[in-house]
Amino acid sequence: MCGIVGIVGRDAVAGGVIEALRRLEYRGYDSAGIATLEHGRLERRRASGKLVNLEARLAEAPLAGAIGIGHTRWATHGRPNETNAHPHATARLAVVHNGIIENFRELKQELETDGVRFETETDTEVVAQLVSRNMDRQMGPVDAVAAALPRLRGAFALGFIFAGEENLLIGARHGAPLAVGYGAGETYLGSDALALAPFTDAITYLDEGDWAILSRAGAEIRDASGAVVKRPKQTIATQAFRVDKGEYRHYMAKEIHEQPEVVGRTLAHYVDMAAGRVMLPEALPFDFARLTRVYITACGTAFYAGLVARYWFEQIARLPVEIDVASEARYREAPLERDGLTLVISQSGETADTLASLRYAKSQGQHTLSVVNVPTSTIARESSVVMPTLAGPEIGVASTKAFSCQLTVLLCLAIAAGRARGTLDAAGERRLIDALIRAPGLMAEALTHEGAIEILAREVAKARDVLYLGRGTSYPMALEGALKLKEISYIHAEGYAAGELKHGPIALIDESVPVIVIAPHDAVFEKTVSNMQEVAARGGRIVLIGDAKGAAEHGLETLATFTMPAVDAMVAPIVYAVPIQLLAYHTAVFMGKDVDQPRNLAKSVTVE
Ligand code: AGP
Repeated sequence: MCGIVGIVGRDAVAGGVIEALRRLEYRGYDSAGIATLEHGRLERRRASGKLVNLEARLAEAPLAGAIGIGHTRWATHGRPNETNAHPHATARLAVVHNGIIENFRELKQELETDGVRFETETDTEVVAQLVSRNMDRQMGPVDAVAAALPRLRGAFALGFIFAGEENLLIGARHGAPLAVGYGAGETYLGSDALALAPFTDAITYLDEGDWAILSRAGAEIRDASGAVVKRPKQTIATQAFRVDKGEYRHYMAKEIHEQPEVVGRTLAHYVDMAAGRVMLPEALPFDFARLTRVYITACGTAFYAGLVARYWFEQIARLPVEIDVASEARYREAPLERDGLTLVISQSGETADTLASLRYAKSQGQHTLSVVNVPTSTIARESSVVMPTLAGPEIGVASTKAFSCQLTVLLCLAIAAGRARGTLDAAGERRLIDALIRAPGLMAEALTHEGAIEILAREVAKARDVLYLGRGTSYPMALEGALKLKEISYIHAEGYAAGELKHGPIALIDESVPVIVIAPHDAVFEKTVSNMQEVAARGGRIVLIGDAKGAAEHGLETLATFTMPAVDAMVAPIVYAVPIQLLAYHTAVFMGKDVDQPRNLAKSVTVE
């Protein structure tokens, strides 16, 4: 999604703005721009496509201003061209915006009736014109913004600079994240702390409805009512900002390979290895034993982690699970019992639909527990309990290490639930923990198949359609495998419960459709083999991601078989995440796709 940067600096800020924008690239974008004040006059440079295009513009026509705002745009209203790129400006101000102004049509109409002429198709220009009109009506910049903000509906973050105001930058947060950073004689605004890391580790996250008046001396923060408020200043660990690719070609490759380490780190946080017990870092404000069900909601890959967790909660803790994608959950108006539990899962902790579902659950009197990777995120801050995944910053748009860490945390939670509900005794818990603590080593072993997977990827790259099949926890893994492949290679892929094959998807099978079967030798393996037979009988080309025992038993011809190390059935999804990620990655690389920033996708989906 869009990224916002602002600097009130001492010297020329264009270089710093670009540097910060580069750190926001991972969020996904299709155009970029910058505005500075040149001797009090607003100047903009904008370009469609990647930041290099904007840099080329700046090389042709440099900007020297000591105050500026920058933006990476992920198009919502209007095509991703230069005209629609931010900052948007009038003679009085320039503005950058993340999110959607829901009532922009009605505001536009009102402004047009007043004689305002619009140049772009964006909702953002309405904000520029609205504040400008307030200034035409003799308001100063601060009052003009203060008067405009309550008129805007939707979820957004904004950054403004003003002609003739060399020491004034205004930021506003209403549903999309925004942080203020403090430097020596410089102050910064950014969509997240990561963007500001080159300049400062001293950050204040704005609260919902806050807006901030920045100058070189610091920032004054006001709440939605206009009252000056104090928000805590945090020191962000610089280690959290290590976002280099290291020895890898892509962030995604690095993040896949980091998994044994980060899953191990996450486990160490939640498991007392010596005692063979799950140790939740904070006391839970609810009792698993008293719950009649748990509600899970999330989007995309995080949702698939939730689907895996459903099997774990139901099998280990005998706790019924209701699960829905957050974009549906937020509007279903499902009756949720008071004092029940809603569990939300999110890498970014900023996904608009997931956040809205969390707020809905709270409004119903539910306890809320979030599994998030960004501990300072809005979802983390608004949940009654936070269980962080310790994956570190995930930059590749395709989620990999966050997913395996989500699974790790969720399995620990299901074990804790089982213990609390008396469905798992100490011996059973120790057995599961023993299996779980082997996961990082087994993931490292799974990574050794990379060479063979890379060879298969060349074959998969020729396909127009790919099917993924699995049963039990391998069913959500099939969904995740298909999502991973389609989002970075743009090959059409679908995941199915293997048993559903003959209810429709079997019609798609011929020799041109690779069928990736995820099947550890578990309780449902034989059933999956029957489905593989149905595929083979129709000339389908099977790729089996299984284990040695299964490979020895199935007796079918496959296009390829990858034998993962033997692993406890409960822990298998964590290990099997590796080959499905590698297959998607190498297919996309072979096809020459932009694996870290695939087209049309955003890392942090802050609009619904
Ligand atoms: C995963 O590869 C995707 N890019 C996407 O589905 C993602 O998982 C989804 O947008 C949810 O994001 P979140 O975990 O940050 O909430």
